[in-house]
Amino acid sequence: MNVFITKLMSTMTLEEKLGQLNLELGEPSAAVNAGGAKSNDFSNRVKQGLVGATFGGEFASNKLSQDLAMQSRLKIPLIFGKDIIHGFKTTFPIPLAMSCSWDPDLIKESARIAATESSAEGINWVFSPMVDIARDPRWGRIAEGAGEDPYLGSLIAQAMVKGYQEDLSKPSDVMACVKHFALYGAVEGGRDYNTVDMSHIVMYNDYFPPYKAAVEAGAGSFMSSFNLVDRIPATINKWLLTDVLRHQWAFNGFVVTDFASINEVKTHGVANAGDASAMALKAGTDLDMFSGNFINTLRQALSDGRVTLNDINVACRRMLEAKYKLGLFQNPYKYFDEKRRNTDQLTTQNLNAARRFAQRSMVLLKNDNQLLPLKKSAKIAVIGPLANSKADLMGTWVATKESGNVVSIFEGIKKMASSNSVVTYAKGCNITEDPYLLKYMDGPLSANPSAGLTETKTPDELRKEALQIAANSDVIIAVMGETSGMTGEDGNRSMVNIPETQVDLLKQLLKTGKPVVLVVINGRPLDLTWENENLNAILEAWAPGIQGGNAVADVLFGNYNPSGKLTTSFPRNVGQIPIYYNHLSTGRPYIEGKERYTTSYIDVNNSPLYPFGYGLSYTDFKYSDLAVNKKELHGNEDLIVTTTITNMGKYAGEEVVQLYVQDVLASIARPVKELKCFKKIMLQPGEKKEVNFTVKTSDLMFYNSDLKYTWESGEFNIFVGTNSRDVNSVKVNWNKN
Ligand code: NOJ
Repeated sequence: MNVFITKLMSTMTLEEKLGQLNLELGEPSAAVNAGGAKSNDFSNRVKQGLVGATFGGEFASNKLSQDLAMQSRLKIPLIFGKDIIHGFKTTFPIPLAMSCSWDPDLIKESARIAATESSAEGINWVFSPMVDIARDPRWGRIAEGAGEDPYLGSLIAQAMVKGYQEDLSKPSDVMACVKHFALYGAVEGGRDYNTVDMSHIVMYNDYFPPYKAAVEAGAGSFMSSFNLVDRIPATINKWLLTDVLRHQWAFNGFVVTDFASINEVKTHGVANAGDASAMALKAGTDLDMFSGNFINTLRQALSDGRVTLNDINVACRRMLEAKYKLGLFQNPYKYFDEKRRNTDQLTTQNLNAARRFAQRSMVLLKNDNQLLPLKKSAKIAVIGPLANSKADLMGTWVATKESGNVVSIFEGIKKMASSNSVVTYAKGCNITEDPYLLKYMDGPLSANPSAGLTETKTPDELRKEALQIAANSDVIIAVMGETSGMTGEDGNRSMVNIPETQVDLLKQLLKTGKPVVLVVINGRPLDLTWENENLNAILEAWAPGIQGGNAVADVLFGNYNPSGKLTTSFPRNVGQIPIYYNHLSTGRPYIEGKERYTTSYIDVNNSPLYPFGYGLSYTDFKYSDLAVNKKELHGNEDLIVTTTITNMGKYAGEEVVQLYVQDVLASIARPVKELKCFKKIMLQPGEKKEVNFTVKTSDLMFYNSDLKYTWESGEFNIFVGTNSRDVNSVKVNWNKN
């Protein structure tokens, strides 16, 4: 590879080198005019070798662009990126939902399928995984990540990277782009694009691990984030992009900016666009997404001495290496096998996988009096503005516009209920009547019929219809929550609740005296305090994807016994945010019943409504006999932790057994609990299993105040349980010598 690239670069002009650092929009609507030909400007730039990559396009558009690149002097192929975030044509549950499966193999499989489907579409580079740790449910993009835990987040980051890039020499594999480097999940107030301010010790211990894990898994590219890191925009932050990413972690791929973020350096008030390009290149950015600044200003920066030819060469080489690794020099058309669009997309196998993923992503939050599973012969009223929606089940960042293949929840339930049951549907209300929210939902990201924007019936008429079918039912399934446009990029909310109009309908439905099961469709942890107090059963279904309706029906009827566990804490109200399980202790920790003068509120309990790791099953699991092989450990010995789990109920089911560690005394304050291992096990009714965990000294490591990765002798609490709150514990002493 090196010899090939060195030789190629020796023939490149400066302009051609800068072209490799330039990413343009390849979306058909922008780059292709009505006649199907590329716009002249774009075509000419590609033919002159002034474009290195495009994003957003699909088969025809990308193929046309590659044809143009093949007409350029050096015939350097383009790479084609796209936001493939949770599946492609076969849309999977949103990433936050998938993380609730606590199943890295399943998540890897989802990335493999996404790679196969997107590579069949002429795409070879996906803007995924998003591995930003997020502790703020107001932030719309919490939907795109794996939640609040660095350990689980790291395993998932690796699974995704390995799934996309299993073997880049194959045409069914694509290059991953890990984002948003760094700390994007910590934007203040949960507002996208906002400021981040964080100590290095928090970065290294809590926010960096998933990015680092993705590097270790061999990620081919990284995307810089929009936010500041130490008051310097990430895109021009040399400490971040070079010292940490390349020198400390040995990343050897390329870094792309987020969308036109070089322009934003100016609005951050740090440098004008020309200077920002030079600073970005110097900092370690290789590819400029869309701003045009690299191609337009770096020649000048070179003659002014703000960048060197070596800086340009280094970035150019990294781009060429990526193309080489993808096999594009051997075959620029490797990803344009038209037949594969028929054989590899939306296959029965992929759809079955989507159903499996959705079943395993759902979290049963409440099930009093065993209201669930439902009887298939019941009269079921399926009610709510999301009950028959298709687009909203796909969630944010849908890479395909085709929602026709989505199975709605009403459809799924109707199909699965027995022939002598009656399943009826009524919308019941609009998503919201709040003019502020509605105004926003009319925007390009989210125009959506279920929002009520195109509803012809009055709210009164909608409610009457719903109450009528409710009165004739044995059980009501209320499907409520958020549209896809209320989540994802810039889908930030100051209130993380189910909008009032829907809750009003829920209240009316409860008055009928019929049992009500709430199925929540959403992209963030919600404040479900009222719902938890007033309803018997709540199923968190998230945005479950193309097979969402079938998977919800599978869970409601008990064809699949829910096993999902939350990967984010659900707050009791917005004021509790940020709320996360792995917080520090404080000098005056909260003590239940002794709220004053401890770290607490006087108007709400400190704990989350549903803790990290929480999720019910139709069966009950009993934890017993927690034991350790030794209580005094030395050096690099292993600690073996054993516990017994018994299925006490009448359904077979899976349980995620979780192990947490607390470092009781250390040179810096340490979290009250940190997830270190977990195992997902299957138990038949009455079955008992012994589960063993091996805790190693590597599980005790943390970054100390010198940012040295180490562990310290002392006392450790080991917790094992069904979630981060309900645990048994044992103490051990572990000494370095
Ligand atoms: C902006 C988003 O922050 C990023 O996640 C995405 O990949 C790019 N736009 C490209 O769409």
